[in-house]
Amino acid sequence: MKRWWKYIAPYKKYFILGPLCMIIEVIGEVIMPKAYSMIVANIDTGSKSIWYVMGVAALMVLTAVLMMLGGVGGAYFGAKASVNFASDLRLDVYKKVQTFSFANIDKFQTGSLITRLTNDVTQMQNFVNQLLRMFLRTPGMLIGALIMTITISPRLSTVLAIAIPILAVLLFVVMRVGFPRFGQMQSKVDALNNTVGENLTNMRVVKSFVREDYEEEKFDEANSALRDSAMRAMNVMILTQPIMMLVMNLTSLFVVWFGGNMVLKGMGLEYSDFSALITYINQILMSLMMVTMLFMSSSRAAASAKRINEVLAEEPDINDDGAAYKDLAVKNGEVEFKNVSFRYYKNSPDCVLEDINFKINAGETLGIIGGTGSGKTTLVSLIPRLYEADSGEILIDGVNVRDYSLYQLREGIGMVLQKNLLFSGTVKENLRWGDEDATLEDMKNAAESAQANNFIESFADGYDHEIERGGANVSGGQKQRLCIARALLKKPKILILDDSTSAVDTATEAKIRETFATSLKDSTKIIIAQRITSVMYADRILVLDDGKIAGLGTHDELMDKCEAYKEIYSLQIENKEAVSNG
Ligand SMILES: Nc1ncnc2c1ncn2[C@@H]1O[C@H](COP(=O)(O)OP(=O)(O)OP(=O)(O)O)[C@@H](O)[C@H]1O
Ligand SMILES: [Mg+2]
Repeated sequence: MKRWWKYIAPYKKYFILGPLCMIIEVIGEVIMPKAYSMIVANIDTGSKSIWYVMGVAALMVLTAVLMMLGGVGGAYFGAKASVNFASDLRLDVYKKVQTFSFANIDKFQTGSLITRLTNDVTQMQNFVNQLLRMFLRTPGMLIGALIMTITISPRLSTVLAIAIPILAVLLFVVMRVGFPRFGQMQSKVDALNNTVGENLTNMRVVKSFVREDYEEEKFDEANSALRDSAMRAMNVMILTQPIMMLVMNLTSLFVVWFGGNMVLKGMGLEYSDFSALITYINQILMSLMMVTMLFMSSSRAAASAKRINEVLAEEPDINDDGAAYKDLAVKNGEVEFKNVSFRYYKNSPDCVLEDINFKINAGETLGIIGGTGSGKTTLVSLIPRLYEADSGEILIDGVNVRDYSLYQLREGIGMVLQKNLLFSGTVKENLRWGDEDATLEDMKNAAESAQANNFIESFADGYDHEIERGGANVSGGQKQRLCIARALLKKPKILILDDSTSAVDTATEAKIRETFATSLKDSTKIIIAQRITSVMYADRILVLDDGKIAGLGTHDELMDKCEAYKEIYSLQIENKEAVSNG
């Protein structure tokens, strides 16, 4: 409850006014039948003057108008409260997700985060709205009508003593069975969102592999699972409603039967009171029905609340709480790994990286090479703390990366991820991710270094050229060069390129390398590549094999001593020469 109070407090006014308005409506609902019976009683006996009847009628009109105002007010304040509640909640969940590390996101999965942000928040919004409209109104109506029934005929009220417990048991069953089913249903919505999200972001791949049928099947599967799960949840409601109605109708029947007899046999119940009584009994049953509905949507909202709470309660596993030097910036860019080990799944026996030890001096260029899945991307991800090392330490300029604030740490590192990505917006906007205040001049320099200036200027609108989401309208090599330029604009002390020139031809790649040597002379450069030609000119080369260092040294040293390196060399260079010579 403490968690949700934060979203209620700013709108307390609406949270109070809404139910208060509904109370006006309830008071009217309780007064109306009695007033009606007062008029009917007079028609029977004709004992009161016309002014009395007119007076009661005027009171009824006034009540009706007040009820309408109460109804409108209740609906308005209820909407105001619930919509604002949901909007603040959504924003907070979103902000929380922004603090998540890669590991946190891996845990929830993107699709599920989207459902939690949208669908689950909406479920809670609906519940809050319903709650505000009903939670005073329903008990108010129940109590009011009960009092009226008991004062009119205590004897007939005993029927309710049987009906109410039956309905209560029913409510309990609905809660017990409904809650887990709604939880399951939301997780099926997650699965569906995951499928749709993956399909839409990778549409081009789907099309090029003509995998639409397969994707449709996958969607169909997720969709059917959701359908079945929704049906299971609905079944609870489908059964509840008719059973409730049956109990209610039987109760009414009993009341009419016994009450009618009492009127006919003159057992102390007037006809006028009898007709009011039937209305009150109906009100009691109606309010019980509303309670059931409220319980039903509360079990649905509770399932959503639990899921939202999981996100809000998740501790970003990487934060700077423990940072010793919050204001320290990366100065030189010397990087050292000391006995570093890492695994993605903390309970798996095999390490993805095992006992990694090496040191790169500031300004040095380190090439990293190794088979796919050998842990290259993982290794560099640990430097800006995209993931956290399990054991050992990573030092930058002799300071543990955990002792920098995340902001300062990442400010000092320019990284081009293997899955490089551009955002929808102009070239300029994309480049400014690297430096918000970059001038056109700065951008041109960075683009020049990344060999991107030429093709950017070949666009009719140059640096204002619109890039589509994900960089879909530029070629793979162009995208890579734009991403490099973006990283260069950060003027990083440590530049990490993860397979970032794989789609660039070797001549252009060589030019990029040359400009690095001059324009990034003092920065440490870590360059991961599959092509040996991309790393063989580096000051030193680190060879990774299955998460372990298989060799570290210059090209000549490795050719001399490192079997794994020699093998890569012979596979890539000698075979190629053999092919071109033969
Ligand atoms: N987010 C992740 N969750 C779980 N396992 C992962 C994750 N990313 C990578 N792995 C696993 O960790 C191992 C190392 O992966 P990594 O991406 O570091 O390899 P790599 O050397 O960069 O390969 P490539 O040359 O193909 O890019 C692989 O076995 C991979 O399956
Ligand atoms: Mg990789």
